[in-house]
Amino acid sequence: MHGESSRIVFTLLGNNATIPYSECESILDSYKIPFKELNRLDQVLILSAPVEACRVVVKQAGMVRRGCALLAESEKTPASIIRAIDDLNLNEVVKPHLSFAVRVKGVKGHSEGIDVSRLESEIGGKIKERVKWASVNLENPDILFYTIITNDRALLCINVARAEEKGFSIRRPGFRPFFHPSSMHPRLARTMVNLSGAKVGSRFLDPFCGSGGILIEAGIIGCDMIGTDLDPQMTKGSKTNLQALGLNSSNVCIGDARHMPIREADALATDPPYGRSSSTKGRETCALVHEFLGEAASLLKTGSKVCLSVPSSVETSALMSKGFKVLETHLVRVHRSLTRRIVILTRK
Ligand SMILES: C[S@@+](CC[C@H](N)C(=O)[O-])C[C@H]1O[C@@H](n2cnc3c(N)ncnc32)[C@H](O)[C@@H]1O
Repeated sequence: MHGESSRIVFTLLGNNATIPYSECESILDSYKIPFKELNRLDQVLILSAPVEACRVVVKQAGMVRRGCALLAESEKTPASIIRAIDDLNLNEVVKPHLSFAVRVKGVKGHSEGIDVSRLESEIGGKIKERVKWASVNLENPDILFYTIITNDRALLCINVARAEEKGFSIRRPGFRPFFHPSSMHPRLARTMVNLSGAKVGSRFLDPFCGSGGILIEAGIIGCDMIGTDLDPQMTKGSKTNLQALGLNSSNVCIGDARHMPIREADALATDPPYGRSSSTKGRETCALVHEFLGEAASLLKTGSKVCLSVPSSVETSALMSKGFKVLETHLVRVHRSLTRRIVILTRK
């Protein structure tokens, strides 16, 4: 059962123009939380959805910073923002004995020319003027009024959930006991897991698991992970990395992604070798992916998803495979000589 829908806002990482929006919506789909997309602005997604969606998405996403309840929208001039605050029924929001704080966040230079700290105090002053019992607590407020300035407007919100930021940076490949340079940043690994439709309790598979970067993120969200790799050094390293984080490594084994040692999986995300820092063991990436998708088709139920990362030089059309339909593709620049193409396929 889900609560009533209202307008909610997610603030997103600014590292990619498309993938964070899809990640949010994929998480909601996987938990069957109903939503309707209302708008996409720079680093902001506005949905009609139950407020609890904020907590569900923020807890699991790799590229979402915050989830908020939207109170009002206005033009982005300070005068319009203050007028919009004045029009709110603030007594309903700041109940007696609750403290508050105000933050204004400008996205991608959209707050240029606006004195953000002055605007914060003006909003705070207006709230105090309107709600006589309201008290300010900057350290640990009960209510955080969070105003986002993006594109041509201001979104007046109440913060509902904020992402824990540190975990991703301490899980970077260089901090693991077994390091391999082909392992991607944990945020992207997490996002790929989410784009595969995985959720708590899913039987999640990474058939080219390498040093375990994707498995780690699937394990942290609570999936039952299975990993295979042809290279015994990699499976050993992957187990070491999972164990170092207290995650289950018992289903990581040596195996060929083209002949997998399991019967079924709910979701699959993987980063097959490109023949640069990780070996394709003599096969072209494309041929290898086709052979593995042929095998994956027999493991996945209709509607299950596969999220793949390939180099951008591999066209999406080259990945079309019997039994699968392409849902989405995204480009993610890693560095000058590598842009990843993230492809989401669904089992027909
Ligand atoms: C890009 S790396 C995976 C990186 C991984 N996500 C990580 O975090 O380290 C690709 C992996 O595929 C493995 N591989 C190559 N051919 C394979 C095959 N046919 N079946 C399974 N694994 C294979 C390589 O040994 C390599 O570890």
